[in-house]
Amino acid sequence: MDTRPKTGSAVAEGIRARRRGAVKWTEYGPDVIPAWVADMDFDPPKCAIDAVLEIVARGDVGYHSMRYREEYEAAYTHWARGRFGAVPKPLRFLPDVMSGLFWAMRTLVSPNAGVVILVPSYPPFYEVIGATGHRVVPIPLADVGGRFEIDFDRLATALADPSVEAMILCNPHNPTGRVFGRDELLALAGIALRNEVIVISDEIHHDLLRDGRSHAPFNSLDHEAGARSVVLAAPSKTFNLAGLKAAHLEVSDPDISARLAQVADHDRGEATLLGLASATAAFREGSGWLEETLGVIGGNVKAALAAFQGIPRAKVYNPEGTYLLWGRVEGLGPVSAFDFFLREARVAVSPGETFAAGASNWFRLNLATYPEVMSEILDRMSSALA
Ligand SMILES: Cc1ncc(COP(=O)(O)O)c(C=O)c1O
Repeated sequence: MDTRPKTGSAVAEGIRARRRGAVKWTEYGPDVIPAWVADMDFDPPKCAIDAVLEIVARGDVGYHSMRYREEYEAAYTHWARGRFGAVPKPLRFLPDVMSGLFWAMRTLVSPNAGVVILVPSYPPFYEVIGATGHRVVPIPLADVGGRFEIDFDRLATALADPSVEAMILCNPHNPTGRVFGRDELLALAGIALRNEVIVISDEIHHDLLRDGRSHAPFNSLDHEAGARSVVLAAPSKTFNLAGLKAAHLEVSDPDISARLAQVADHDRGEATLLGLASATAAFREGSGWLEETLGVIGGNVKAALAAFQGIPRAKVYNPEGTYLLWGRVEGLGPVSAFDFFLREARVAVSPGETFAAGASNWFRLNLATYPEVMSEILDRMSSALA
């Protein structure tokens, strides 16, 4: 056995050889290290993979019985109670969070109405708002002493516009990594309620928190806007299971439930049997895996902050949650940060301009990889900027 320490490139080669179906690892040539789409490089928890293997070995892959949904709901309820101190509202099952957002936009927001998002924003939010016939109302997050904050005055003005009917909240926030706390959420809830704006809260990164932070589900706030909200979540980011397709929407308000029911089940897709079963196994037995994974991500965050600290033309923001690092580079002229890092560092980041108009000198770096790969990525990016 070769016991020499592995270099980042050797580890990356090993991941590439295994991840033959993953877009993250197939989009770019073999000399590029991918750090873009929000998949982790780690294998999911063994219990989740075993659940899939056991079902496939039995050939038991027909339409799923209700039992799979009930078991997911019970396992997730236990998980959410333990991690967020909150009992989830009744679940509706979905293949993924984006199909839930399409569903909510189509049923809960009038044609041409405005929908607020905090910018920079996860790029598909722009798409879903446009594709369902609505108008994006972007509210920039404010950099206050190196931390992104919600500009509540600006938010209040935007939500006071009667044509604005909804806000898509993303908490923890992709791409900045902000974890909005209970006080911020209550302030937001007050403004939303006053203006009769429904909050659709995408909480897909809810388990990926750092430094002892806790997640407050929007519908767990003791507030009428929380009770009237829709929360979307999934096991896919937590356990790296995006391709297996299972997610859920939580709703308790009867009027909102009735409006959601206008779309037939077949018109919004279903969670898969393998997705539900793997998620159930992970919620039951995956907490050790998650803690270990968060430890590795935490180490990578530290390494990345230290690497960029030494580079005056680069600025990155300490993520409180997610495994994503948001940052910018000065002095690139007309070249985007994405093009610069791809060409000069052979690292594929996510392009800033897809998150906010004009943000081409910004980038999002995925930190969910092995420490050796992280250090190779950071060496390459630092050398390119030297
Ligand atoms: C904030 C956010 N929402 C939704 C998604 C997509 O989730 P899904 O694959 O469940 O549609 C992602 C994926 O990166 C995300 O970061």
